[in-house]
Amino acid sequence: MPQLDDVYPLYLNNRAQQPNTDLEVTDKFTGKVAFRTALADPAIIDEAIAGAVRASEPMARMANYERKAVLDHCVSRFEERFDELAYALCVEAGKPIGDSEGEVTRLIDTFRLAAEESTRMYGEVMPLDISERAKGYQSIWKRYPIGPCSFISPFNFPLNLAAHKVAPAIAVGCPFVLKPASKTPLGALIIGEVLAETDLPEGAFSILPASRDGAGLFSEDERLKLLSFTGSDEVGWALKARAGKKKVVLELGGNAAVVVDRDADLDDACERIIKGTFYQSGQSCISVQRIVIHEDVYETLRDRLVAASRELKTGDPKDRDTFIGPMIDDGEAERVENWIAEAVDNGASVLCGGTREGRMVEATLLENVDRSAKVVNEEVFGPVAVLMKFREWSEALAEVNRSEFGLQAGIFTRDLFKVLDAWDTLVVGGLMVNEIPSYRVDSMPYGGVKNSGLGREGIRFAMEDMTEIRNLVIRRT
Ligand code: SIN
Repeated sequence: MPQLDDVYPLYLNNRAQQPNTDLEVTDKFTGKVAFRTALADPAIIDEAIAGAVRASEPMARMANYERKAVLDHCVSRFEERFDELAYALCVEAGKPIGDSEGEVTRLIDTFRLAAEESTRMYGEVMPLDISERAKGYQSIWKRYPIGPCSFISPFNFPLNLAAHKVAPAIAVGCPFVLKPASKTPLGALIIGEVLAETDLPEGAFSILPASRDGAGLFSEDERLKLLSFTGSDEVGWALKARAGKKKVVLELGGNAAVVVDRDADLDDACERIIKGTFYQSGQSCISVQRIVIHEDVYETLRDRLVAASRELKTGDPKDRDTFIGPMIDDGEAERVENWIAEAVDNGASVLCGGTREGRMVEATLLENVDRSAKVVNEEVFGPVAVLMKFREWSEALAEVNRSEFGLQAGIFTRDLFKVLDAWDTLVVGGLMVNEIPSYRVDSMPYGGVKNSGLGREGIRFAMEDMTEIRNLVIRRT
């Protein structure tokens, strides 16, 4: 079993520093302190932003092969440190060890993709002679790094959602300051440790767990040119309102729906929906929250889902058989319990689960839930889903769209025309066919509409956000 250190430093202008050990991070299963790290105060954050400003030009001038070498180094080091990284996630996030390993695999994919894409940032040669006045003119444009970036990453994917910001920034040559979630800072700090082994220009990166008093600088400081935030919709939109002139990318929440039509392979749909609903205790922005089932197969699928949910092993995330580990803290577990109770008070039936012990919330399925309930309308971010019936395809699509959110949706059908209809009709950032909305490959465009956010991640798409077009116009005389 890998060991964690007692104390970890933060990274200020590429260097490990230990100004204090003020942040205690717990093992989310035992509740005991697992390690300590430093909290950056406003003076440290200010120094980091000043460093990022100084690093902007040297970063922009790095050759593509030099940025690629940095990313390649990260890939090899993450491969070497695979077990340690997975264990760190398992402890600090309470993420079952199999899921933790899955996240490390994705981290490696994300950095590998960024390494590849770093040499493929193309521009275009554009003829401008669209009319007499532009005869003899042409334009050549290329992408230029936007400058110092500010990143705020969430607790639920401490490595890979930090990687989706860090890796494209290095690929295009943007220095950055990153604030990882205080409950799970270690993933990002290990990324910092690996980056500190490279010869990125001084100030290229700072990774700073921070208390709330300093955190404002990450969104408000005018020297930062882009803010990329992943987290709750409430916090995300509030940060955007304070972000001034910077470009803002928001990867926020959802209450993802999956539709199962009567021609679906029910065993396959059941297996995937169980995973999408309950993996990492539902603490994913694209976990399945609303299961919309054709009335002809409703009872059959419902009974299979309930039976499969009851089989899931709950317990210590370090145990390989565990499917459902703890939620991130007691407050979150209590909130989820209250939302279930609110639905039940308004007439919902509990098909399975419904209770909690400390941070462990049972896999819960509900039916007959009033549409006004929080478990339908808001983001549960816990191991809970509601079942609903439909008769007509258009009703199912309307049900999916009956949401303030629009991140991803899933449909199980073999009818191509229904697929095309859903693609046109569903107001979401991504539609998965014969798959759950929780599916993501790290190269694909990922992000939401409506309350779910702005902009897209997926390396190429993030690289576009982190650059601006710089145009050159030539008049041939
Ligand atoms: C998220 O929770 O937004 C990310 C989900 C993922 O990357 O799989």
